[in-house]
Amino acid sequence: MNDLEQLVATAQAEFDASPTPAELENAKARYIGKSGRVTELLKALASAPVEVKKTRGAEINQAKLRIEAALQARRESLADAELQAQLRAEALDVTLPGRRRGSGGLHPVSRTIERIEAIFGSMGFDVAEGPEIETDWMSFTALNNPENHPARSMQDTFYVDLKDEGGRWLNLRPHTSPMQVRYARAHAARHAGAATMPEIRVIAPGRTYRVDSDATHSPMFHQCEGLWIGENVSFKDLKSVFIEFVRQFFETDDFDARFRPSYFPFTEPSAEIDIAFRSGPLAGRWLEVAGSGQVHPNVVRNYGLDPEKYIGFAFGMGPDRLAMLRYGIDDLRLMFDGDLRFLKQFN
Ligand code: PHE
Repeated sequence: MNDLEQLVATAQAEFDASPTPAELENAKARYIGKSGRVTELLKALASAPVEVKKTRGAEINQAKLRIEAALQARRESLADAELQAQLRAEALDVTLPGRRRGSGGLHPVSRTIERIEAIFGSMGFDVAEGPEIETDWMSFTALNNPENHPARSMQDTFYVDLKDEGGRWLNLRPHTSPMQVRYARAHAARHAGAATMPEIRVIAPGRTYRVDSDATHSPMFHQCEGLWIGENVSFKDLKSVFIEFVRQFFETDDFDARFRPSYFPFTEPSAEIDIAFRSGPLAGRWLEVAGSGQVHPNVVRNYGLDPEKYIGFAFGMGPDRLAMLRYGIDDLRLMFDGDLRFLKQFN
């Protein structure tokens, strides 16, 4: 190997051993820079005879070209390595299983309320919602509760540390019945002075509160009020509407229903509605599903309507209990614990 080949080989080796572009440029300077070894060889040639200049000059330039080619090759491979490293650093691992967005679902009570709304909706009932913090008048007085009725007591009803304009404590509504009054009053006011008033047909589902807590009672629970008022609405309409509701809700005709005499201040006569399935796990057991009755004339008056002209019925049922019966849940508290293992079963 002559000296030039040796020079090319060592330059090549140094370039290949340069781990970074900066070190590569330093190595380049040692060979083809201003005072690099190739440059020195060319300078030394200046004083040589013409013949030598020609052949040796051509050889040195040849060597220089090869060194430049080696430099360029190394530059490219360093740039390429850097690009590869960058791509690796920014790489997305597409083989990783995706993180899926958990899909939400409806609570069994929400499903039940939607079902109730759909069934009564198909029978021409409007759906109304109202406040959970109520006045004494809406929760009790307008509903014909006497001043000393036990429902008004602190043992049964939660009170809020705020008073209404009349100086009475506000309550967390113990039932949805105040919505009868709110809805009927708004309806009556809207049609005041008109010769005829369209019938009132509404259900009002929502949260209700009572001082009560065990396996079958939760201090917060749900009710759904129903009200149908017109000029000629009778108890038989209540029976047919409610039995049709039960039939559609449980998707069966295989049950008996009874209207058991009861008492509510706001209805007269009053009845508890019980049903008993004729087959299935609950066969033969009477289950109380609603309170109901013909709306008391005093309450119709509080709607702002004439009780001599308008008559009808109301009922109140518990969507929580209906959900438990429909899904076979035996402890009410499961409904409100928020345990996903329980809730996921309904979605
Ligand atoms: N509000 C009654 C209750 O909470 C239920 C009911 C509603 C009864 C309407 C009659 C009419 O028990």
